[in-house]
Amino acid sequence: MASVIDGKKIAGEIRENLRQEVTWLRETHGMVPGLAVVIVGEDPASRVYVRMKRQACETAGIASFHHELPGDTPQNLLLELIHRLNADPAVHGILVQLPLPDHIPERVILETISPYKDVDGFHPFNVGMLSIGEPLFPPCTPFGVMMLLRHVGIDPKSRHVVVVGRSNIVGKPMAMLMLAAHATVTVAHSRSHDLPALVRSADILVAAVGKPRMIPGEWIREGAVVIDVGTNRLPDGSLCGDVDFASAEKRASWITPSPGGVGPMTIAMLLSNTVKSAKRVHGLPT
Ligand code: GUN
Repeated sequence: MASVIDGKKIAGEIRENLRQEVTWLRETHGMVPGLAVVIVGEDPASRVYVRMKRQACETAGIASFHHELPGDTPQNLLLELIHRLNADPAVHGILVQLPLPDHIPERVILETISPYKDVDGFHPFNVGMLSIGEPLFPPCTPFGVMMLLRHVGIDPKSRHVVVVGRSNIVGKPMAMLMLAAHATVTVAHSRSHDLPALVRSADILVAAVGKPRMIPGEWIREGAVVIDVGTNRLPDGSLCGDVDFASAEKRASWITPSPGGVGPMTIAMLLSNTVKSAKRVHGLPT
């Protein structure tokens, strides 16, 4: 039976450490890290995530600047806002919640955010820096996975990591961080041949697909580490991961629940990147 990795608890510890660091920065350097959060439109899940991010900022003592724009906002107004935030010295991090409405091209928006305030790590400059192993801001969700593993003492070095999913937000940056940590990495996706065999070959499985319980416990190798990035809403309103937890925990050595595993870490890493950005601006070591 697997040990469960309590992401909520680990994220709570990280957030408490950040709160203390933010207090120290304010008292000794008179600086307050600031995060601007931009949401366009009414997507209910996005609104929930954005509210959680704002609350987390408040608890940590980070200033949050909230910009809620209607779904029919023209692209140029959003670009103007981003230019203003880029120039605002009180803002150390800028996050534009995705997905954006169809009429606004995501790529144009992400390229407009200053790479030095891109706490999501989505700007092509930061994607490139990540791929050469020197990210300014590691993307929050995959970075959270690395921190979870570190926290429970699992070193990916020389292990076979299978990432299922190739999104720009999770799958691809996850593969880059695992490579930087000296893992052997396979990225599987919907067109991969024989997914069960690929999953069975994993020492560490990272599931980031967004399909409820699509990976059954029978696919998991005995003793593997299972990291479930998926947070899927079922018709009854409840949440579940990409992995069938009940059957997988019988075979895995370690497993993250969903919810309560990777999700809370994403927010903790966002706060961590914001504090890092503020320290960089003030010439402090990060
Ligand atoms: N939408 C889903 N996940 C994320 C994320 O990590 N950052 C942003 N900006 N939007 C998202």
